[in-house]
Parts: sequence; C-alpha cells; structure tokens
Amino acid sequence: MRVVMTMVVLVLVLLMAAMPIFSQAMDIHQMRQIAAKNNVTCILVFGDSSVDPGNNNRIPLAPKSNFPPYGKDLFRGHPTGRFTNGRLATDFIAEAFGYTNIIRGFLDSNMEKVDLLHGVSFASAGSGYDELTTNLSYLRHYKIHLRELVGEVKAEEIIRNAIFVISMGTNDFLQNYFTETTRRKQFTVDQYQNYLISSMFRAVKAMHYLGARRLAIVGVPPFGCMPIVETLDDESQCDDEYNQVAFSFNSKIKQTLVTLKATLGIQNAYIDIYSVIASAIKKTQDIRFQGDVERVLWDGAGRIRRYMQRYEYVC
Ligand SMILES: *[C@@H]1O[C@H](CO)[C@@H](O)[C@H](O)[C@H]1NC(C)=O
Ligand SMILES: *[C@@H]1O[C@H](CO)[C@@H](O)[C@H](O)[C@H]1NC(C)=O
Repeated sequence: MRVVMTMVVLVLVLLMAAMPIFSQAMDIHQMRQIAAKNNVTCILVFGDSSVDPGNNNRIPLAPKSNFPPYGKDLFRGHPTGRFTNGRLATDFIAEAFGYTNIIRGFLDSNMEKVDLLHGVSFASAGSGYDELTTNLSYLRHYKIHLRELVGEVKAEEIIRNAIFVISMGTNDFLQNYFTETTRRKQFTVDQYQNYLISSMFRAVKAMHYLGARRLAIVGVPPFGCMPIVETLDDESQCDDEYNQVAFSFNSKIKQTLVTLKATLGIQNAYIDIYSVIASAIKKTQDIRFQGDVERVLWDGAGRIRRYMQRYEYVC
C-alpha cells in the first residue's frame, strides 16, 4: 500500500505539479485537486501482470490468475484476474484522481460504455516491450468507441488529457531473454535492451499519433529479487546480475524519455519503482514476511507451470 501511494504521488508530482518539494504526506484530497486543476480525464494503461486487471481471462492460453487465492482481499474474495490479493497500483491511481476505484480491462465482458470515460487497461500478463506494438490496435478500438459515445471533439480532449501509463519489461528479460533462447542467440544484453527501447519508442510514437500527450513510464523493478528468480536460481538471495540489467535498462528508459520530450513534445514522467522496492527491501531487513507466493517455472519445452507455495521470507 505504501509503495502504491508513493507511486500515485510520483505520477502526480512528476507529471503535473510545478511543486518544488516532494511531499510524502500528500493526501487524497490534494491529489484530486491537482488532477482536477490539470484537467486529468482518465488513465489508459499498457503493460504486463503488474497492471492487467483481467484481460487475460479472455485470451486463450495466456497466463491467468482468475482463481484463489488471487483476489482474496478484493470483492469478498472473488478473483478478478488481477495478479494480486487486492487492487492494482493503477486502481489506486484512478481512485486518487477521483473517478473510480477500479480500472477495468478493455476486454472485460462486464464493461459498460461509461467505464470507457474512466479509463481502461489494455495490459496483458506475460507481455512486454518485445511485442507491444500489436496491442495498440486496442487503443484504436477504444478511440472509436469513445467517439461513438461522446463525439469526436470530446474524445480527442479525453485522450489528450489522459495519463498513459506503461508498466512492463520484466517478462522481456526474465522470460524472453534469460529463459528462452531465441533472443539470447540474437542479441547481447545491451543489444536486447536497445531493441526493447526502440520498440517502446515506436509504441509511444503511435500513442502520440493517436492523441497521447501525457505519459508515465514505470521502470522495471529489481527483478533479481523476485520470487520467480529465486525459484529459477534455487536460492533465496537477490541475483545481483539481474538487478544490474534492470538498473541499466532503467537508465536507457530515462534517456529515451528525454528524447521523446524533445522530439514529440510529450509530457512525461519516469516512475522509479526500482528505488521504491529496493529501499523497501532494505528497510525491512529484520521483518519476516509470511504468505502465499506464486512460483512460476518454465520447463524445457517452453511450457509454463505455475503453483502457489506457502513461504516465509526474510528480506
Ligand atoms: C484546463 O482546461 C481549461 C478549460 O478548457 C483551460 O483553460 C486550462 O488551460 C486547462 N489546464 C491545463 C493545465 O491544461
Ligand atoms: C498483445 O499482443 C500480443 C501479441 O500479438 C497478443 O498475444 C496479446 O493478446 C495482446 N494483448 C491483449 C491484451 O490482447
């Protein structure tokens, strides 16, 4: 929750406010005021399992989380397809902006037309920059629906004042590069990072073409500390080499944002989730966590096996 609130504040402060001082203590009221003052209309979300609210429920063969214990703290324990026990960071961001307390998946069959106005998520668990461009067809569809609903001028305005959030990259490294072999044979780590960056660049250009003017890109977390890496490495320590890859990829994202601002004039913010999580891990040295964690394994044939495991974890 603290990580999430920090993220909300970061999005607001970096993207909107001419606020000199970073205030941890900003309350939801202040956030709403800033959002309203800046005419923020909604958030449109692109990414992986970190922000997929259940789109994968509708995609055959895609990784799913529509079974317990996922969602155990949300909607009386009903799993929605979010890869979490509760809501996602993007749900909290939408709430902080004052529209809705959940962001629906664009493929959600329960979606009502009015939900389009509050923002949607196009995210799909398991995806990444490696294949992002294809998913922009959903943004085109979204825009068509929006136009039908509110007319062309209003639709353009909504998109212009929306915050586009992109949160992905972990699967590209952990799955597409370090687990599968095709990309590894093709690229060095550095070359692969550049390949992903150029894919991101193309995608942002396409978003800009469709009307996007405000962008928040979430960097990759220290994925060397993720439970899945511990499973693959068969040890309970962070993998420093992976963390170094994450760190240098984030540097490239930051450079790219500078270029995007200079070339497209798109207002943007980099969300440093790496530092937020790394410092959370550091600060809780002596705290033991207990709970259920999802273990994910890729077998030799490229199939994914997922299972839940009880764990006790000392950071
Ligand atoms: C918000 O909208 C109003 C009315 O259209 C406009 O005057 C103002 O400049 C906008 N503010 C920002 C920060 O875009
Ligand atoms: C994103 O694109 C990939 C690649 O085409 C596709 O498999 C996936 O289903 C798309 N995501 C969504 C939410 O449909």
